Amino acid sequence: MSASTRKTALTAEDIRAMKGQSPIVSLTAYTTPMAQLMDDHCDFVLVGDSVGMVLHGLPSTLGVTMDMMVMHGAAVARGLKRAMMVIDMPFGSYEQGPEQAFANAARLMAETGAAAVKLEGGVEMADTIRFLVKRGIPVMAHIGLTPQSINTLGGYKVQGRDEAAKPLISDARAVTDAGAFAVVLEKVPANLADQVTEIIDIPTIGIGASVGCDGQVLVVDDMLGFFGAFKPKFVKRYAELGPAAEEAIAEYAAEVRARAFPGEEHIFADHAPKKD
Ligand code: KIV
Repeated sequence: MSASTRKTALTAEDIRAMKGQSPIVSLTAYTTPMAQLMDDHCDFVLVGDSVGMVLHGLPSTLGVTMDMMVMHGAAVARGLKRAMMVIDMPFGSYEQGPEQAFANAARLMAETGAAAVKLEGGVEMADTIRFLVKRGIPVMAHIGLTPQSINTLGGYKVQGRDEAAKPLISDARAVTDAGAFAVVLEKVPANLADQVTEIIDIPTIGIGASVGCDGQVLVVDDMLGFFGAFKPKFVKRYAELGPAAEEAIAEYAAEVRARAFPGEEHIFADHAPKKD
């Protein structure tokens, strides 16, 4: 089923049912206009905590707050009609235990209209995922490179190589058994991503994983060439809008300094013409 043939928003069940049918398309979004551009093309839109780095200039996702997620989530929801909206639980909002996770997930869903939450972690988060799902909150899991744990992972490294493959498979099984409807695999070897996709019966959503995953997600500002701070190998630049925007800004600045802007067509006469 493709997002563009649906009249109402896709649900977690719809996304889950796409496994083995058609590739699931997803991007992150943080604002209404960007969400509007994606609505016809994405099956789900992720309000990622990458917003902290992409829009707020933070050095990592660790400083992202619940209030930031609520504000950006509500903005994205206003731009979506068809695509499902998934929202990230920020660092510190769920790790204490299932009750804390439920309170914050319920707030994210109630105040933004998100249809599901995403949280990072595998085996260690299984009880929390089970608790949320049993209480009506669809959960997307996120394993492999989990950016909220960079301080314990030692940086943004590939996860699951060599002897680390087994624990990653255990994570995938654990989140599946706990009731997650899909799982993001970030920065894991392609063969391992294919193996996980084969083993578990929920969709795998790859980012720096494998073309064989059930779906793909990218940070929109990365793929549009807006966000230059990071250029991970797994990002394909589909456009270079950052340099194009800077060129336009430089042209505007030059025209203002040369008193070439505003032109005749941008200013108003003393007396009203037929049409302004
Ligand atoms: O926050 C985010 O953008 C994400 C994606 C990288 C999957 O979690």
